[in-house]
Formats: sequence, C-alpha cells, structure tokens
Amino acid sequence: MADTRAHGATAASASPGTGGATGNALLEVEDLSAAYGSVRALDGVTLRAETGRITAVLGANGAGKTTLLRTISGLVRPTGGRVRLDGEDITKAPVESMVAKGMSHVPEGRGVIAELTVDENLRVGSLFRGKVGKDEFDRVYDLFPRIAERRDNHAHTLSGGERQMLVIGRALLARPRVLLLDEPSLGLAPRIVAQIFGLLRQLVDSEGLSVLLVEQNARSALSVADIGVVLNLGRVVVTDDARTLMADEQLRHAYLGF
Ligand SMILES: Nc1ncnc2c1ncn2[C@@H]1O[C@H](COP(=O)(O)OP(=O)(O)O)[C@@H](O)[C@H]1O
Ligand SMILES: [Mg+2]
Repeated sequence: MADTRAHGATAASASPGTGGATGNALLEVEDLSAAYGSVRALDGVTLRAETGRITAVLGANGAGKTTLLRTISGLVRPTGGRVRLDGEDITKAPVESMVAKGMSHVPEGRGVIAELTVDENLRVGSLFRGKVGKDEFDRVYDLFPRIAERRDNHAHTLSGGERQMLVIGRALLARPRVLLLDEPSLGLAPRIVAQIFGLLRQLVDSEGLSVLLVEQNARSALSVADIGVVLNLGRVVVTDDARTLMADEQLRHAYLGF
C-alpha cells in the first residue's frame, strides 16, 4: 500500500527496498519548493537520482514535474530547499553553469531549428555546451544511427521520434553525468517510445549516466526505470523501486492512470 511507504519531504532518504539509501546519490533534491505567484507548484519535494540509474518522476498533468526539472536546472528559483550535484550545493548556481557542472536538461517539446539540418542542429546546440570534439558528435551518431542517416536532412522533415533522438543527442554532446528529460514520450507511438527508452537504458548501463525521467506515461516510464517517484499537486506521494510501483494496482489507479 502506498501509505505504508515513505511520504512527503522525507520520502527518498527514508525509502526502503532499493529506493536508494545505499547508492551513489549524484543529484539530491531536498525539501524543494517553488511557486508561480500564488500558485504553489512544488511543495517540499525530496528525491535523489543515482549514478547508473533511471529515476522516473510520474504524475498527472499539473503535478509539478516540469517545474521540478526547471527548478533543478536553475530556470525557476526555488522558494525553499536545496539541490546538490555530487555533494555541491547548486541551488543558486546560474542556469548557464549547469552544463559545465555535468547536468543537461532536455525540456518538453523537442525544440529544434526546423530550417537547419540535423547536423547543423547538433552543431548549434554544441555552441552552448563548451568545447565539443568530433568524437562527441561521432558518439551521438553511433548511439542514434537513425539520426546519423538523416544528418543532412532538414530538421522539419524528421518524425517526432527522430526529433526526440536529436534533442537527446544534443544534450549528450557535453557528456553530462545527469540527464533531465521532460516527457520524451509525449505524442510518440508506443513502438518508438520503447525504442528510445531502450537506447536510454543502454546508455545508462554502459556509461553510468544518471537520468531523471519525467513522464505522464507512467507505464512506459516504469518499464525502463529503476526507481519511481510519484508526484501529486507538487508533493511526493511515494518513492519506491519501479517494479514495486508497477505491481501496486491501487497506486496505479489513484495516481498513474493505468
Ligand atoms: N509559467 C507558469 N505560470 C503560472 N503557473 C504555472 C506555470 N507553469 C506551471 N504552472 C502551474 O504549476 C503547476 C505545476 O505545473 P507543471 O510543473 O507544468 O506540471 P506538470 O509538468 O506535471 O504538468 C500547475 O498548477 C500549473 O498550472
Ligand atoms: Mg510538464
């Protein structure tokens, strides 16, 4: 049952099972709150994202998922709480310093420049990511052969799935240690989602990346994630290993929509 597990601000650190008390918490979010004027979007969120793990943050539209990622990456200033990356307090670090610290954020919406080619989009993206060598481009093309095939095509000719691969590839150019992904599956066919999540899994397993995956599509996200964090109205309802959440029918019906 959901309510026998850790709740609210203490959820992640007190979480039993494989919830992560023993792992390497690369990204630590502690009692984080954020608001838009009088709208409280995050209310004391605590979670951690560990090296070599995919941590899925799940919840309905309006739960605060996007705000969480925007607050972690410095786009929204928190009204309270802390964010640590590898032990360093980055709560007040400027957004433009995050990439150098090892964090890449892929926002919702798959923003690419339609008139530029795939390759040009990667190169323009790399301008904001410090020095990026040829090896890094090769690595992205190796990871996403479909994108490599289309490197000279204009971005507006890409399918939704290809666009998603392009924006993830662009985020990987700086070799982040933590990757924040906002609703990568939105509007994509299940087969394409499975493909992208499969690639993500490979990447995490082979390179020890830490992924914080925000999804409304809880079923797909839990099938690839190690840990799940359920958000509702800006608060953590429960944190547990993905398999346990998947098996909790009551929780799925109440918060995850399947
Ligand atoms: N720019 C904004 N201005 C005012 N309210 C916002 C803004 N962005 C989000 N909100 C509100 O904050 C809450 C959380 O939104 P959001 O983080 O986008 O949730 P999610 O990504 O889970 O759908 C919602 O109530 C939403 O209406
Ligand atoms: Mg959102």
